[in-house]
Amino acid sequence: MSARLVRQIATRHPTGLAPKIVLMPSDRFTPHEELARVLLPANGDFDDGSHDLSHLTRVWKNARTIHAEEGGDLELIAAAVLLHDCVQIAKDSPERANASRLAAQKARQLLASLGWVSDRIDTVAEAIESHSFSAGLQPASLEGRILQDADRLDAIGFTGIARCFYTAGRMGSSLYHPLDPHGETRPLNDSAFALDHFPKKLLRLSNGFQTETGRRLAHERERALQAFYDGMLSEISE
Ligand SMILES: [Fe+2]
Repeated sequence: MSARLVRQIATRHPTGLAPKIVLMPSDRFTPHEELARVLLPANGDFDDGSHDLSHLTRVWKNARTIHAEEGGDLELIAAAVLLHDCVQIAKDSPERANASRLAAQKARQLLASLGWVSDRIDTVAEAIESHSFSAGLQPASLEGRILQDADRLDAIGFTGIARCFYTAGRMGSSLYHPLDPHGETRPLNDSAFALDHFPKKLLRLSNGFQTETGRRLAHERERALQAFYDGMLSEISE
């Protein structure tokens, strides 16, 4: 664990055996720890494990990887990552498609209260509004394209598989249709069957990436998705 992620307090632990270590969530957002300290509370209690602090730190890691090759303004990207899910609406709610627009509005208010100039606020808000799959919008800025790619990378690969089944469990879905897991004789229904989410959405996501780096990383993660999907179907097929 890097020194940046850990604050070691000089005093000894009460047991006298180990130094007291304090991990701060904002420390995960280097080099924009101070911005993270201010903006992270806007995300509330993180009660959805697929959209929690860990999701934000993974999206930030993805965004930094893409930024290293594609460029862009890293502070704008940091603000967009930190606030992109600050309004959360359940996946099965009819209001779901409005979440990113509402998050963008909230981001505007927050960044204005911090004294940000309007064109930087506009870029962050537009990136947030256009990041989500359900909004169906194309990001206008490089920073917006990086946010969308970084967020979508977290929906695929091994982590995407874990998040898919976690979300299905929260919604009370079954793992798969017991008679037709492939969906050959019925419409796919990923609200009812977790495995349907692979052909309906996850296996199609890698085609929609915005940056060259994002596309390359997505194709690597897509192989994990496809291997899991094929392997599970092989195990459960009669
Ligand atoms: Fe997200």
